Amino acid sequence: MEYKIPLFKLNFGEEEIEAVTGTIRSKWISTGPKCEELEQLFVEMFDVNYAISMSNCTDALHMACLLCDLKPGDEVLCPSLTFAASVNCIKYVGATPVFCDIESVDHINIDPVDLEQKITSKTKAIIVVHMAGFPAKMDDIMDIARKYNLKVIEDACHGPLSEYNGKKLGTIGDVGCFSFFSNKNISTGEGGMLITNNEDMAKKARFLRSHGMTTMSYQRASGHATTYDIVELGYNFRLDDIRASLGVVQLNKLPNDLEKRIMVREAYLKRLSELENIIIPFVSNTEFVSNYIMPVVLKKNTSSSKRNEVREYLHSAGIQTSVHYPPVHKFSIYCDLKASLPVTEYVADNEITLPMYASLSVEEIEFIVSTLKQALNEIQ
Ligand SMILES: Cc1ncc(COP(=O)(O)O)c(C=O)c1O
Repeated sequence: MEYKIPLFKLNFGEEEIEAVTGTIRSKWISTGPKCEELEQLFVEMFDVNYAISMSNCTDALHMACLLCDLKPGDEVLCPSLTFAASVNCIKYVGATPVFCDIESVDHINIDPVDLEQKITSKTKAIIVVHMAGFPAKMDDIMDIARKYNLKVIEDACHGPLSEYNGKKLGTIGDVGCFSFFSNKNISTGEGGMLITNNEDMAKKARFLRSHGMTTMSYQRASGHATTYDIVELGYNFRLDDIRASLGVVQLNKLPNDLEKRIMVREAYLKRLSELENIIIPFVSNTEFVSNYIMPVVLKKNTSSSKRNEVREYLHSAGIQTSVHYPPVHKFSIYCDLKASLPVTEYVADNEITLPMYASLSVEEIEFIVSTLKQALNEIQ
């Protein structure tokens, strides 16, 4: 079924087509000058020392765990209200995730108080996810990290160019990770970026990204090297120049896209304020944010059944919705850890993600909100 109003619309135009055809015509399509151009643009726009393009954010998060030297026996604090990749990366390096609750229904990011209570002698790192592009409480989290000597990995997939006290998300902890999956603010199909201000980490990330090799194919093809050594056990986590050329266009378009999303959120907030039985997370946020998604949470329900019926109602009216997220600690591979996270579970059972993209019109927002209002009136 084709939705009248989808959850997300790709912001692609002729520029993306020209960029891709230009790269194909250049006859260099794997990691090369376009990846370097995208990395340089990230360095400038995010005000960070190093940016290393990656095949996707899952690999960037895996890489971040390697850079933080996480190993079997180590514990890593993380949220459960996130996409599974933010937690799976901990298991890739043999470490153990320790799930923390979110702060509240209004602030659906990791709770620094719960986080500090869960620190043990084995704790080595914290993975922070900035939900919907809204910043987690980074001052508190960084204070805790310094006090207990923990590394901080920011999963900033939802928040490119979002800010916290004037700093870009992804630049506050030790490593920041971004995704360019189709439905993200920067879309290249698949793709990702790892950013850091730490020179040693950046050097290591470049080696490990490409099998631990000392030179890259592009350097050899352009006559800058004739051979290579393998100095560490690495991976193939490389982005290619076709996708990177899309990324350059998308990143250049991002500031304008985010300005429009701010207006979309404002239009939503104005209309949603008339609905008594919902809570809008981060409603009082004043930071510049990416508005990756538009989450709302139903009030006072004990199970997910009403939420599911409301979603069905919206779908029947041609409005696509989603849930961010089914909580990771409830998945079969993590339920042995027996985490109890009441606020996360409440939000996971009652959250509905409404459509969000730069070209969403005021009329469409009015239709979405009035349909939601009808649904909430009719479904008890
Ligand atoms: C919060 C979060 N972390 C990690 C990922 C993984 O990103 P990728 O699909 O680029 O591997 C996603 C993507 O959906 C995400 O939303």
